[in-house]
Amino acid sequence: MRINFNVPPYTGKEMEYIKECVENQKICGDGAYTKKDNEWFEEKTGVSKCLLTTSCTHATEMSAILAGIKEGDEVIMPSYTFVSTANAFVLRGAKVVFVDIRPDTMNIDENLIEAAITPKTRAIVPVHYAGVGCEMDTIMDIAKRHNLFVIEDAAQGVMSTYKGKALGAIGDFGNYSFHETKNYSMGEGGALLLRDETYVNDAIIIREKGTNRTLYQLGKVDKYTWLQPGSSYLPSDMNAAYLYAQLQMADEINDARLQCYDRYMEAFRDMAEAGLIELPYVPKECVHNAHMFYIKCKDFEEREGLIKYLKANDILPASHYVPLHTSTAGLKYSRFNGEDKYTTKESLRLLRLPMYYNLTREDQDEVVMRVKEYYKAL
Ligand SMILES: Cc1ncc(COP(=O)(O)O)c(C=O)c1O
Repeated sequence: MRINFNVPPYTGKEMEYIKECVENQKICGDGAYTKKDNEWFEEKTGVSKCLLTTSCTHATEMSAILAGIKEGDEVIMPSYTFVSTANAFVLRGAKVVFVDIRPDTMNIDENLIEAAITPKTRAIVPVHYAGVGCEMDTIMDIAKRHNLFVIEDAAQGVMSTYKGKALGAIGDFGNYSFHETKNYSMGEGGALLLRDETYVNDAIIIREKGTNRTLYQLGKVDKYTWLQPGSSYLPSDMNAAYLYAQLQMADEINDARLQCYDRYMEAFRDMAEAGLIELPYVPKECVHNAHMFYIKCKDFEEREGLIKYLKANDILPASHYVPLHTSTAGLKYSRFNGEDKYTTKESLRLLRLPMYYNLTREDQDEVVMRVKEYYKAL
């Protein structure tokens, strides 16, 4: 395709930093760049600890272990999300309980959460879709009253805030993704944010195969040993080096994405006003990071027609999640509490347009022109 849906971010310094790791013969986990990345996020979000991980999937698995999720527990989340949000808990024997989303933000409907709580519920997992925050005050209040963990899936939420607080730093645990499709990338990677000190020591042990190897490396114990179940959740310092180049330019990347987003919003305003499409909505409590730009078509058929038209013109758009409760594994490991009023309907008409750092104005104009052309011909 001439205009791709995504191009991984690259700022220019990445290779220099990776080369430095190689030349210093420090390429395994928890090297100098991992430390720099962790500190960058701690400073930016105000959490007690950030631990770089091999993926957001793994950060969520760590969160599930830290929350002590076990066989028979229930965890509440939206069905409109990536499989990893659910997998982390299913792997620990929990049942996933889905509730409907809000059609305006595509985030979990905070007003439906309480009705899904049972004596088995242990956690709520809000997913900040498109980097737009969920209604966190309501969610935190419900969690407090019912003594539940809040684990934020902030895979798409780096640099976004809700009422001035960084997404991922509001709940007990927050999970970021640095997959190549995200605003800041290291190929594959993620981070676990720990709001309070309470879970820091356990998290460090779980991430290092359940051992106190980190203390050994700091010279605080003579030998390292197996203390509890864990896994290898720490990434190579070469990946961390790639990410650090982008963190140094985080504001530039964020500004460029927001400009691109605003241009789309401006260009499609007339179509939205004419009732042809719907545009994304950002609540006033939220500052977003322009992680994606989507439009909503009238229905599935109209969207599929648009996908076909754009592809025929060398432009690659993308639909998004197939609601998890309708999937093979979803049927086995989950239940949908209440009515699926919006999850399926809205997922079938949402279409993401090309959006990445360094998307040129000319290419963006062409995407807009082709979308308009399609609707004119309808
Ligand atoms: C909402 C959400 N959660 C989790 C993930 C998993 O992220 P990773 O690929 O870093 O494991 C993704 C990936 O796209 C996602 O969109």
